Amino acid sequence: MKLSLKVNQASKIVLFASGSGSNALRLCQYFENNSKVQITSLFCNNANAGVIEKVKPFGIKTVIFSKVQLESGEVLEKLKNISPEMIVLAGFLLKLPGEIVSHFSRKIVNIHPSLLPKYGGKGMYGHHVHQAVKNSGDNKTGLTIHYVDQHYDSGAIIFQKSVDISPNDTPQDIAQKVLKLEHYYYASVIHALMEDLPYDW
Ligand code: GRF
Repeated sequence: MKLSLKVNQASKIVLFASGSGSNALRLCQYFENNSKVQITSLFCNNANAGVIEKVKPFGIKTVIFSKVQLESGEVLEKLKNISPEMIVLAGFLLKLPGEIVSHFSRKIVNIHPSLLPKYGGKGMYGHHVHQAVKNSGDNKTGLTIHYVDQHYDSGAIIFQKSVDISPNDTPQDIAQKVLKLEHYYYASVIHALMEDLPYDW
């Protein structure tokens, strides 16, 4: 009889973020004591991004890379070595090359601060999104969690949540409302996806 020394390993998440990192922080806090899911690394293309300091206390390895390294296949090689179950984008603005998207098909998710397909696509990020919502006069906005494909903000939608906005809300007010929703839902939806749990809250 063969003795197996295989230990049950946690499922790995790799984060991609290059902004202030409030969602990345929330994800780190959420999974901190989870023995089944572990955030192993932060991939970041901006050495000065706020997210780097935010994840430091969690002992997560940070990998800084350039756009050239991303597009030359170097980043893909690093990802293959880690072999994550899920790649989570949280404020990452560069488009992922097709090789990464196809290698990790249905394993890369992103969060977008509007109800896609509204206010998505190239150039629609951060305050541009909330300003466009304000200009439109819409009475609601929200968040979208979706799979990443080879275009901006167009992959299959996993989860959406809306929030009411009033005519008095400034784009900053709208941004705050959406960010609050993001912090509340993103980690739970990722968790549900990884554990194959329902997430139709
Ligand atoms: C969030 O609004 C998210 O929807 C978008 O980028 C922003 C990141 O914010 N993809 P933060 O860096 O997590 O604070």
